[in-house]
Amino acid sequence: MATIVGDLDIPQLPEFGPDTDRDVRLTALKDAAATSWIARGMLGYNILHYGDVIAVLRDKRWYSAVGLINEMQVVTNEKYKARPRRTSILSADGDEHVRLRRLVAPAFNPRSADRLRPFMADVMNSLIDPVADVGSCEFVSAICEPYPIPIICELLGAPKEDWKLFSRVASDILRIFNGNLDRDAELIMQAQDDLDEYVRMLIDKRRSEPREDLLTDLIAAEEAGDRLTTEELVTMVEAVIIGGTDTTRNQLGLAISVFAHHPEQWALLASQPDLAPRAVEEVMRYFGAVRATGRYATEDIEYRDIVFPKGTVVFPTMGVANFDDSVFPDPATFDITREPVGQPQLTFGSGIHYCLGASLARAELQVALPLLARRMPNLSLTGQAEFKPATSGIFGAEKLPVSFESGH
Ligand code: HEM
Repeated sequence: MATIVGDLDIPQLPEFGPDTDRDVRLTALKDAAATSWIARGMLGYNILHYGDVIAVLRDKRWYSAVGLINEMQVVTNEKYKARPRRTSILSADGDEHVRLRRLVAPAFNPRSADRLRPFMADVMNSLIDPVADVGSCEFVSAICEPYPIPIICELLGAPKEDWKLFSRVASDILRIFNGNLDRDAELIMQAQDDLDEYVRMLIDKRRSEPREDLLTDLIAAEEAGDRLTTEELVTMVEAVIIGGTDTTRNQLGLAISVFAHHPEQWALLASQPDLAPRAVEEVMRYFGAVRATGRYATEDIEYRDIVFPKGTVVFPTMGVANFDDSVFPDPATFDITREPVGQPQLTFGSGIHYCLGASLARAELQVALPLLARRMPNLSLTGQAEFKPATSGIFGAEKLPVSFESGH
């Protein structure tokens, strides 16, 4: 007979808070993964092995818990609590999600991402130029933070001058995932209002002047007579701005923090830029910016002879599943020449919510890393790398003081 998940004898994870060191947290999760595919945490169950993470993410009875984020955190700000919540593609599920995804997916094809590669290289070169002769910089503020913004502006067809607004609102809105809603509520609301006003203005403009860009494609997105409503369009554009900026910039910073400890791999990438696709997959496997996501059971779900009662929350933990040695041999070794194993790293998720911007993010990182490796040889940290709190939904470096050989 199936066992109820609450009765299972499984590892209990220690309490993690914003101050818990990331290595302590990761070690606890990896220790649990050594003996069990599932562990009990404070808010739900962490799913730790590769096959099980995929199985949960592909099982449509589990819905995205993104919409529950507000309920899962203590928030006393009345204005915040009273605000109507919108469903975005990330928090939608069932038929609503299928419809949205079908309408917008064609606009995110790999070809439109590839078209932007020369532009991406120009952006990256223009960021490296001012520091190239200096031979040192704080990498996060000089390179990571600005990099994705002109690219998202170009993709959407938004004027370049607006990059500062994009950059700020993306970071502030993503504070909802940082586990401190009470402190951040005012900033989040302000950013949501600013973005809303901006996106409506942009859509109005593009309706009267269609161009060759993502926004025009989204406005035209139509399938069998169906169309995005203005509200859906606004929410979709916001999802692209938010999902497409902080993720990529943090992933780039994590990549550099890893390469700084593996100088031979950095030199290898500089001399063999065609290793870029493998290097990106390896960096995302080894140190991904999104380490876990959340799902809740929409009905009683039986899996592996275990019953997960309706409402149970689980966290498919991609950051640990990416170290599953039944899929990735010798997982603790960082190796950009690693042969593809036919099963992808999981930092873009899996199943119906699989990252819509994966082609774009891959292109951005595949362009950036070999260029950086060539123009910043002998890169090393000159001080302590500082990271975001371990509870950050999108994890990344806050400060990476680096030096490198100048003049390239
Ligand atoms: C390295 C960079 C990125 C990482 C690590 C990343 C990661 C993810 C993950 C893990 C999910 C699934 C979440 C879940 O299942 O709950 C997701 C969904 C999504 N991502 Fe990304 N992402 C990245 C870049 C981007 C970019 C550049 C864009 C936009 C251009 C984007 C737009 C989206 C959207 C719209 C979704 C929702 C898809 C859906 O629910 O159907 N992401 N991303």
